[in-house]
Amino acid sequence: MADVDGLKVAKDYKVDVPFANQGDFHVKGANNLDWGMKKHLSNIFDPVSGNTVMFAFDHGYFMGSTAGLERLDVLLPQLIPYVDVLMGTRGAIRTCVPANCQKGIALRTTSGSSMLNDDLSHEVLAVDIEDVIRMNADCMAIQTFIGADGQLSSLDNLSKAVNAGMRYSVPVMGVVAVGKQMERTGRFFKLATRILAELGANIIKTYNCEDFEEVVAACPVPIVVAGGKKLPEKEALELAYEVISKGARGVDMGRNIFQSQKPAVMAQAVNMVVHKGATAKEAYEFFQETE
Ligand code: R5P
Repeated sequence: MADVDGLKVAKDYKVDVPFANQGDFHVKGANNLDWGMKKHLSNIFDPVSGNTVMFAFDHGYFMGSTAGLERLDVLLPQLIPYVDVLMGTRGAIRTCVPANCQKGIALRTTSGSSMLNDDLSHEVLAVDIEDVIRMNADCMAIQTFIGADGQLSSLDNLSKAVNAGMRYSVPVMGVVAVGKQMERTGRFFKLATRILAELGANIIKTYNCEDFEEVVAACPVPIVVAGGKKLPEKEALELAYEVISKGARGVDMGRNIFQSQKPAVMAQAVNMVVHKGATAKEAYEFFQETE
């Protein structure tokens, strides 16, 4: 292991230089993967825009019933037409997502804490690969806590999921968690996203931050950005526009869609930004004008 004392600061990110090993496949870092992996990744990232709108409704895995998600069975059918991927737990997906829905599935596969715990960073890999395959999931979402108490178990979970995923051609999405004591700095997100990609994650879910272009440039797999706490719709659309402009390949948005007064319209507005090149202003006008 390299000596960390006196390390030079990384700075040569070449943000204007496109990823050099793209080949003829549209998903960053996936050119050398096999057909099954590429098929799953194509179910997530649209081959035309290269981007994805994930709808995250996995909050119940540690929060239980969450404002806006009280009735998944009622909410999900309204949103499914406007999103590419449904990110949830196996319990929520099996019970509330119609099996004839032709959308990608990002299956939350770690768990182990609840909002009653102070430290959420200790999780286990809770879904075995057979059930991931049974559900035809397009990726396994693994929560990871870099720099937190639970870092070792997080990275163990991620590595085990990558090992199983490589065996059966199921991609892994590393989800960067930010512990209560941690700072949302570009430095932290560069560290966390790159560690997860180096350990074999095929997609990284993380947050917007300063120097976000550098986070994207230094990460050899696609980044999707979490929405985070509920913002006014205008600001949430500005966030989506900003990160897509800076190289994110999509958003994985939860509360900013399901806690909106008009969840289905908000999902459409996000979709316009992510897939159709709409500006935040255009998408917000659509949101305001549409019932
Ligand atoms: C975080 O652990 C979960 O993956 C959430 O689903 C995620 O943070 C996305 O939801 P939101 O946009 O509400 O933050």
